[in-house]
Amino acid sequence: MKVDVLLGLQWGDEGKGKIVDVLTPNYDVVARFQGGPNAGHTLEFEGQKYVLRSVPSGIFQGGKINIIGNGVVLDPALFKAEVEALEASGHDLTQRLYISRKAHLILPTHRLLDAAYEAQKGSDKIGTTGKGIGPAYTDKIGRNGLRIGDIEHNFEVKYKKAIARHEELLRQMNFKYDLASLEKEWFAGIEKIKQFVLIDSDLYLNKSLQVDKNILAEGAQGTMLDIDFGSYPFVTSSNTICAGACTGLGVPPSKIGDVYGIFKAYCTRVGSGPFPTELLDETGQKMRDLGCEYGSVTGRPRRCGWIDLVALRYAIMIDGVTQLIMMKSDVLDSFDTIKACVAYEVEGREIEDFPFEIDDSVKPVYVELPGWKTDMTKMQSEDEFPEEFNAYLSFLEEALGVTVKIVSVGPDREQTIIRYTGE
Ligand code: GDP
Ligand code: IMO
Ligand code: MG
Repeated sequence: MKVDVLLGLQWGDEGKGKIVDVLTPNYDVVARFQGGPNAGHTLEFEGQKYVLRSVPSGIFQGGKINIIGNGVVLDPALFKAEVEALEASGHDLTQRLYISRKAHLILPTHRLLDAAYEAQKGSDKIGTTGKGIGPAYTDKIGRNGLRIGDIEHNFEVKYKKAIARHEELLRQMNFKYDLASLEKEWFAGIEKIKQFVLIDSDLYLNKSLQVDKNILAEGAQGTMLDIDFGSYPFVTSSNTICAGACTGLGVPPSKIGDVYGIFKAYCTRVGSGPFPTELLDETGQKMRDLGCEYGSVTGRPRRCGWIDLVALRYAIMIDGVTQLIMMKSDVLDSFDTIKACVAYEVEGREIEDFPFEIDDSVKPVYVELPGWKTDMTKMQSEDEFPEEFNAYLSFLEEALGVTVKIVSVGPDREQTIIRYTGE
C-alpha cells in the first residue's frame, strides 16, 4: 500500500481540513506531517463547526487512527485546550489519536521569542501566527529542541536548560514577559499529553503499510508558505510540500501514492509577503465577505485576489500533484466575470515561470472568463454544473495539466462533488 498526501497549493487555508474529513472513510490512518497550531483546519457537518489546530482532520470519522507525526511541533497548552473542547462536544480521542515521540515541543518561551523576533523586525515582520513555530523549528534544526519522547526521560533538567537559554535571548532583546502563567498551563498540557498513546510513528506507519493499511498524510499551510520553495522569507518554518510527508512521517518517497493538491477558485493569503493578484478594491472585499475570509486561528482578515496560475503551476510541479481539488467555487457564484493570472509581466517581459523574487514590479497578466451566475451550493453532481463553470474547469485543467477530481461548493461535508469525467 501507499501513502496518499493531501496538501495546500496556495498560501494556506485552501480547505484541507474539510477534504481530509471527506476522504477519511477511504483510509485506515490519517497522519499530520508538519506545522503546528499555526494551522486552523475547519470542518463542518451535521450543523456543527470544528476548528482543528494540531489534531488531524480524520478524527471525526469513526474507527480511524489519527497520528501527530514527527514533523509536527506541538504546544501542550494549546493541545490540551483543543482536546478538551472536542471532549466537551462528545469526542473522546485518547484511544484513536497517537503522538509521535519524535515530534518537537513548542516551549512557552518559543511563543515569547516569536513575539520578540517579530517586534525586532518592525515593518519587515512576517506576520506570524504568534504560536512559536519559527523558534521551535529553529531549535529543532539547531539541535536544541525537546521532543515528546523527552517527557519520559529526565525532562525537568532538559526543560530548565532550554528555558535558561531562551531567557538569555529574551534578555538580550530587552523583551518583557511573564513566564510563570504560561508555564502553569504548559505543564498542565504535558499532563494531558501523557494520557495519549506515545508511539514511534515512523515504525508504526511503515508496519501499517506492510499489512496493506491505507494512509492519508495531511499537510498544513500551503506550498507557497514552504520554507524552501515559498515566498521566502514570508513563509512558515517547515517543508509544507509533498516531500515534507516523507521527512515528517518517516515514509520513503517510493511509498508516496496519490498527491491531492487543493486550491481555492481564487486566492488568499494571511500575514505579510508578496501576492501579485491581490485585489485591494471592492472585488477583493466581495471575495472576503462571501468567502468569510477571516483567519480561523487569528481572526485576521485574509488578503484576497484572483487565482494565480503561475504560482499554482509551480506548486503542482514541486509537489508532483496527481489530482486537483477546487474549493470555494460557490464564492464566485455571483461574479459577472472571473479573472485568472496566466503570466507575470516583469520589466515589460512576460514570464510564465515563478521567479526568484516577487516585488512590486511584478504585474499579473490576466485572461477573463464569463461568470456562471448560478447558485451552486445545493448541487449534488457535476451534471448540474453550468456551462460557464465547466468552461472555467476545462480552462484550469488545460493550464495546469492535471484533472480536477473534486469540486467543493460550500463549507459542509455534504457540499462536495466528486467528478467522474476527465479520467
Ligand atoms: P484549511 O486550513 O486549509 O483547512 O482551511 P481553513 O479551514 O482555514 O479555511 C477554509 C474555510 O473555508 C473554512 O472556513 C471552511 O469552512 C470554508 N470552506 C471550505 N470549503 C468551502 C467551500 O467550498 N465553500 C465555502 N463557501 N467555504 C468553504
Ligand atoms: P493552515 O494549515 C494560512 C502564515 C502566517 C504567516 C506565515 C508564518 O490553516 O492553512 P508562522 O506562525 O507559521 O511562523 O507564520 O505563515 N501561516 C498560515 N497562513 N494558513 C495557515 O495554516 C498558516 N500557518 C501559517 O500567517 O504569514
Ligand atoms: Mg486554515
